[in-house]
Amino acid sequence: MQICLGSSCFSRGNKEVVNFIKEYLRKNHLDDKVVFKGARCMGLCSKGPNLTINGLTIEGVTIARIEGILEKELSRFL
Ligand code: FES
Repeated sequence: MQICLGSSCFSRGNKEVVNFIKEYLRKNHLDDKVVFKGARCMGLCSKGPNLTINGLTIEGVTIARIEGILEKELSRFL
């Protein structure tokens, strides 16, 4: 799983999303099962924050949406 750390996604709130994801992985004991990394600009700046997970790029990953996205995409690990 990779989150864009480019400046546009940063200004759209990816820092909060990064913190949420780290905490979510920790709470659900997924730190050792899911690789979470930062990525360079994905070229979709106007649609960020952007996240790539299971080979799928998800746009508009806000703090309001992230928990639902993680539950859906990581359900096989939970
Ligand atoms: S800064 Fe995130 S897609 Fe460009």
